Amino acid sequence: MEHEIAIESSLREKRRFKPDPAFARKANVPGQAAYNRMAKAAEKNPERFWAQQAREHVSWFVPWKKVLDWKLPFAKWFVGAKTNVSFNCLDRHLEGENAWRKNKAAIIWEGEPGDTRVLTYGDLHREVCKFANVLKSQNVKKGDRIVLYMPLIPELAIAMLACTRIGAVHSIIFGGFSADSIRDRIKDAQAKLVVTADGGWRRGRIIQLKKLVDEALEDLPSVERVIVYRRTDHGVPMREGRDLWWDALMEGASTDCKPAKLDSEHPLFILYTSGSTGRPKGILHTTGGYLTQATVTARYIFDLKDEDTYWCTADIGWITGHSYVVYGILANGATTLLYEGAPNHPDEERFWQIIDRYKVTILYTAPTAIRTFMKWGDHHPKKYSLRSLRLLGTVGEPINPEAWMWYRRIIGRNRCPIVDTWWQTETGGIMITPIPGGVATPPGSATRPFPGISAAVVDEQGEEVPTNEGGYLVITKPWPGMLRGIYGDPKRYRKEYWSRFPGVYFAGDGARRDKDGNFWVMGRIDDVMNVAGHRLSTMEVESALVSHKMVAEAAVVGRPDDIKGTAVVCFVTLEEDEQAVPGLDKELKDHVAKEIGPIGRPDEVRFTDALPKTRSGKIMRRLLRDIAAGRETLGDTTTLEDYSVLAALREDED
Ligand code: WT7
Repeated sequence: MEHEIAIESSLREKRRFKPDPAFARKANVPGQAAYNRMAKAAEKNPERFWAQQAREHVSWFVPWKKVLDWKLPFAKWFVGAKTNVSFNCLDRHLEGENAWRKNKAAIIWEGEPGDTRVLTYGDLHREVCKFANVLKSQNVKKGDRIVLYMPLIPELAIAMLACTRIGAVHSIIFGGFSADSIRDRIKDAQAKLVVTADGGWRRGRIIQLKKLVDEALEDLPSVERVIVYRRTDHGVPMREGRDLWWDALMEGASTDCKPAKLDSEHPLFILYTSGSTGRPKGILHTTGGYLTQATVTARYIFDLKDEDTYWCTADIGWITGHSYVVYGILANGATTLLYEGAPNHPDEERFWQIIDRYKVTILYTAPTAIRTFMKWGDHHPKKYSLRSLRLLGTVGEPINPEAWMWYRRIIGRNRCPIVDTWWQTETGGIMITPIPGGVATPPGSATRPFPGISAAVVDEQGEEVPTNEGGYLVITKPWPGMLRGIYGDPKRYRKEYWSRFPGVYFAGDGARRDKDGNFWVMGRIDDVMNVAGHRLSTMEVESALVSHKMVAEAAVVGRPDDIKGTAVVCFVTLEEDEQAVPGLDKELKDHVAKEIGPIGRPDEVRFTDALPKTRSGKIMRRLLRDIAAGRETLGDTTTLEDYSVLAALREDED
């Protein structure tokens, strides 16, 4: 039977950059032969590989009885073992042969206004113990959910680690989300305490974090306490009996707090992400497996050494920040740099200034940021030495070869290997990536599955596709950092990830594999847009639009965008007696930004009399995507209910 091509793939990139022998010699995976040995052994017996890594790089109070218990789609890793994440990130760097790290910088922080702080491992340990005691004093118990809605300040890491110390489960909400989004997430997680700040700094302005929390909590009496860190000190109202200042609570707190001995499968955190039905999903991660994958991937992929100053520019509110600003980096005893603000405040040179000032050695950032820097111009980074850099990384979306080459040339000065790392909120840690010094890198490819990870590209029937043919990216074996479920919704977990192709995890991305075994990820294939490296559900933007009183129907699609990767385009029909008056498009954009937060703000709003639908009433997004991108409408339109709708939409363009 002729097999149908699932996804067209036309990009072909021939360049390859071989590992530099000087880099490879000193690397944690020292060269291609070492990498091949490691990958081969892991392929033969992944469980053994992960167990070895877990023994070597993670500290356990009680060893496991069994490495993996797999009842598809439910996994338990390191069954019966006991550990503690804050112990691994802190205490073990203060004792035995590592005790010298007590006075080593754990966190180097720079605020947007230019204020700076350094917390040594000793400092961080003390603050975490104190805040863990504060949480206990507020009646927080093992297993309770705590929402953190904070700026990018050391206290966010302190609060996270304090939760892990006592077995409380944190759920961080990115500071760019709106009151409604906060409310939905608090409700879903049934959180009883919120930690926030009065405000945060962004482009010289105050983000009103406490105000948004107040709005979110208006009809949410289940939250008993709000702890408020004083960052901007601009005077916020405090509600009697509910709100307490961080500094007042910390003043009297004891610096002694034993880390709880937690089961390997004890819930560590919930992080909300967009799914294809619009309702946010609470992705649940647990303790031992997640910690193992975050620690080991950070060590080999970023080649982390004690001398490094590592900077991941992601906000801690995204999974990248959880795994590779905080947990994976501190577990290795490395120095992590945090910058609170925008890359163009006070000007477009802030990042390069930071790199030179702190002599950053490893930089991990997103393709959307790289493309923005390209647009701002080479003259900015060229003014700086950037000599301290030795390794570069990217994450969040496919990186186009042009941006990859620019990153290599202008930032890495042709000296630094680049690791393009593919993974997801759900995978917990990096899944497909080069190992620097061990793998040759073609610009634009995330290359190979990390040792111990098994990935494939399949067609509609779940059969592996031939070399260089596009298909669906799947993970074929359980892995330690995998999500353990969607919080409170095991049915949806099975349906969203394990039903499309029986027996394997479906990532929602398209990909192809070339003749050398390199994966080329092509992006999302569901109704989720990747906007500036972050997943946004078309459904959520649509429901925000129709909540506006003038809007009858809305369809939202992504359009390829040079900088953001994807721009958000909305097709809107208005209620019978309403008109698309001037300024309404701006009003709708503002409305969506208010409902979802600034990351959801549409780039374009188009008004139309009708939306193209199938006979069964489904909106034909594929057609709208073509129209939004100004492409010829390709493919099958025979199910289109009303051809005149399409013609009218096209006419509107001229
Ligand atoms: C989606 C996951 C975990 C990182 C932050 C985003 C896309 C991520 C790459 C990459 C191509 C990538 C995928 C994935 N993505 N990294 N290196 N190359 N695409 O986490 O919000 O859970 O989004 O980001 O489409 O499915 P997320």
